[in-house]
Amino acid sequence: MTEPVIGEPLVVGAGVAIEYDGFRAVDSADFVVRRGEKFVLIGPSGCGKTTLLKAIAGFLHPTAGSIRLDGVPIGEPGPDRTVVFQDFDQLFAWRTVLDNVVYALGVAKEMRGEAARERARAMLRLVGIEAAGDKYPHQLSGGMKQRGAIARALALEPRILLMDEPFGALDAITRSQLQLDLNAIWRETGVTIVLVTHSIQEAVFLGHHVAVMSTTPARIVETVDTSAAQDMDTPEFLRLSHHLRSLLITPDSAHRSVQTAVE
Ligand SMILES: Nc1ncnc2c1ncn2[C@@H]1O[C@H](COP(=O)(O)OP(=O)(O)OP(=O)(O)O)[C@@H](O)[C@H]1O
Ligand SMILES: [Mg+2]
Repeated sequence: MTEPVIGEPLVVGAGVAIEYDGFRAVDSADFVVRRGEKFVLIGPSGCGKTTLLKAIAGFLHPTAGSIRLDGVPIGEPGPDRTVVFQDFDQLFAWRTVLDNVVYALGVAKEMRGEAARERARAMLRLVGIEAAGDKYPHQLSGGMKQRGAIARALALEPRILLMDEPFGALDAITRSQLQLDLNAIWRETGVTIVLVTHSIQEAVFLGHHVAVMSTTPARIVETVDTSAAQDMDTPEFLRLSHHLRSLLITPDSAHRSVQTAVE
């Protein structure tokens, strides 16, 4: 299978600041997400990753600067920007997995009946849970629920798939499997993905570009091109992982604060 082509800028953030009641969570953030790429946001806990993702989704609006999708400032949330979250309770508990996808197609795309069921089945096939279509969310493992959430998000054919630590609550083996499968899904669909993670390894493995955020108020300190490092057993993978670690973690910060206290 040929790799999807990564194209021109799709989402452009310029000087983005986002505030909650005067508290500045994100400050002067500049970023470019290209059409068809997997773009990763990484940063310390509580720095502003979810805040920035929510602004791309349209749930929050910048207080300064702008975020544009294809040149148009992002407005309200819409089915062209679907979101997958970390928690396992995203699917409606009272609908089967298949009906969760069918329902979303009805609401967002006015697609109903056999056409919607056929599309929903294709999406479940894409994420590897076609056989579980008639099960209810409580009958699924965490990994299967995340696959269901991804299927529902992709069914709407978003221009951009937003993922906020989608694998953060999974065990290590399931997480590795879902990382591999997300790459396969991307190859098949060519969908543009913005993914938030805490994991350096996940960032390098999945991302074409990784934007490293600082502590609050979060700026983007560097955007690292990781497109040549998607095989973990390569020196380039190790080099980029070290580089990201050096941007995220200051080994002598504890030592420095002790020194400051002594002075
Ligand atoms: N609704 C809100 N009202 C006020 N402050 C908020 C709100 N949501 C987030 N914040 C604050 O904004 C900052 C950034 O939060 P955000 O959730 O974006 O961080 P994050 O990088 O996603 O964190 P984590 O890695 O823990 O998911 C934090 O200081 C947080 O307390
Ligand atoms: Mg978050």
